[in-house]
Amino acid sequence: MTILTGKARIAGITGWPVGHSRSPRLHGYWLERHGIDGAYVPLPIEPANFETAIRGLMAAGFAGVNVTIPHKLAAFALCDTVDDFGRRIGAINTLVFENGRISGRNTDVWGFLSNLRANGVDPAAGPALILGAGGASRAIAAALLELGVRVTIANRTRARADALAAELPGLRVIDWDTRDHALPDNTLLVNTTSLGMAGQPPLQIDLDRAAPGLTVNDIVYVPLETPLLAAARTRGIRRVEGLGMLLHQAVPAFHAWFGVEPVVDDAMRRFVAADLLPA
Ligand SMILES: NC(=O)c1ccc[n+]([C@@H]2O[C@H](COP(=O)([O-])OP(=O)(O)OC[C@H]3O[C@@H](n4cnc5c(N)ncnc54)[C@H](OP(=O)(O)O)[C@@H]3O)[C@@H](O)[C@H]2O)c1
Repeated sequence: MTILTGKARIAGITGWPVGHSRSPRLHGYWLERHGIDGAYVPLPIEPANFETAIRGLMAAGFAGVNVTIPHKLAAFALCDTVDDFGRRIGAINTLVFENGRISGRNTDVWGFLSNLRANGVDPAAGPALILGAGGASRAIAAALLELGVRVTIANRTRARADALAAELPGLRVIDWDTRDHALPDNTLLVNTTSLGMAGQPPLQIDLDRAAPGLTVNDIVYVPLETPLLAAARTRGIRRVEGLGMLLHQAVPAFHAWFGVEPVVDDAMRRFVAADLLPA
């Protein structure tokens, strides 16, 4: 049992609902490992109460919070400052409270890039094909474009991909049904759709068309090995699992709230993975 002192730093995750979140386990692991006088707690907040709750948490001395569905837009609107990347894509996932001010940050992109690098993949190395055009896709596409990567996107609903391309200059859009044909022209494939998630159909893509040196990154992490990653494994294609993105995105937030830069390693990954049984 962790015993807190009167000086404990407190952070948490706001969402509605929030019971499915792995973040308390993840931050709790680091707090214990580093012997930090602090806590990270789940904060279920109804949308109508979001602003009151956030200002209350700040007034009560919280160090900050993570923000998940459905509060991301509301959180953005409450920020006094937003980091460059968060502003560019209009989305944040972390609030840091400092001297009565709210600073918003987007750490998903950090998580995506760090996860690839930690697995020996240079995100800037080659052309990328991104499947999906939702919130995660938007952050990942923007990050890769900023690195100078040629990025192509395919989404079931073409209009959504076109809308993203209108916001992100340089983003190429192809029809969802032509993704197999585009595969050989790319050295990074990122699945940002919810296909392959527990309870969802698997993603269909013909990996036999993979270019030599292809890396497959599925950002879905329940199950840990999605059908896409399993198909890559059987073909000897390098793959990067999605859990790493979740773990790495937590690093800058933990550092901002608790003053220690934590490490993502195998022991930590195993600890969080042990809780990833499909809901
Ligand atoms: N590893 C991590 O740290 C991390 C971080 C963020 C998100 N994620 C995961 O990434 C996934 C997407 O998250 P998000 O926030 O971007 O969600 P989102 O905004 O709801 O977008 C969902 C995407 O999935 C597509 N999709 C859903 N069902 C489909 C189907 N049957 N066939 C084809 N496409 C389908 C949607 O296409 P339409 O536009 O046609 O509906 C859309 O492009 C989720 O599984 C989430 O758990 C992981």
